[in-house]
Amino acid sequence: MTDPAFLDEVRQVGRQAALAAGTLLRLNYEKPHNITLKSAIDPVTESDFASQETIINLIRQTFPNHGILAEEVPEKAREREGLELAAQAGGHRWIIDPLDGTVNFAHGFPMFCVSIAFAAAGVLEYGVVYDPLRDELFEAKRGGGAYLNGRPLRVSEVSRLDGALVATGFPYDIRQRLPETLARMGRFLAVSQGLRRAGSAALDLAYVAAGRLEGFWEENLKPWDTAAGMLLVLEAGGQVSTFDGSRYDLYSPNILASNGRLHQDLVARLQI
Ligand code: IPD
Ligand code: CA
Ligand code: CA
Repeated sequence: MTDPAFLDEVRQVGRQAALAAGTLLRLNYEKPHNITLKSAIDPVTESDFASQETIINLIRQTFPNHGILAEEVPEKAREREGLELAAQAGGHRWIIDPLDGTVNFAHGFPMFCVSIAFAAAGVLEYGVVYDPLRDELFEAKRGGGAYLNGRPLRVSEVSRLDGALVATGFPYDIRQRLPETLARMGRFLAVSQGLRRAGSAALDLAYVAAGRLEGFWEENLKPWDTAAGMLLVLEAGGQVSTFDGSRYDLYSPNILASNGRLHQDLVARLQI
């Protein structure tokens, strides 16, 4: 078992890093952005990097030897990190999305967050998602529940699709996936109360945990998009799987999160 005092320290550092990075994003949000493209429609701003630096520096101050998987670290360096990790006893690893919702952020659309998770030996122990514009801090600890600004969270009790608000997201390679993406959306538009695409997968998952959404699905997300949000959903009493209902791990090709009650209905409708 991981030492409880150590996990307390992990949570303190994770929370502090999420708040500091979120504050930086909130301040930069109003200013002009320096934007570059990672691929055709995948932008990155100077704030993604600044947020990442803030988070990594804070983690390194307390845990200089922990592994770090962060979105904006160049792939080559990430690979080196992977090798280091394999050699590391205990496999302590932080999984970081310094700015989830970069397209929103760059356009001044107020829906983005910081997402940080911590795993020990491959098991997610802590996750934090911070929305700096609403000052909403979502936190989950394995076996210890999910919280919003310190108040316990529970998934919703909606058990019929016609009363469900569901959400999805579009990966940056959406242009290669249009037919099946549209088919799935069409099915939910026909049976749900409403369908949203807010543009931040980590917040979508946090909203399932908070009972604001009954379900969320997306293809081709990365570990930094889902790690913290996945733990939030599970700790709030929800369910997480792949589209076909099998076990989700952070490298699965797609994710479905729900309040549990609707999970099988959602699985059935995601099949193409
Ligand atoms: C993106 C957001 C978006 C989702 C994309 C993600 P980013 O993350 O979570 O909602 O649809 O698939 O890549 O690039 O803003 O960190
Ligand atoms: Ca992301
Ligand atoms: Ca990001």
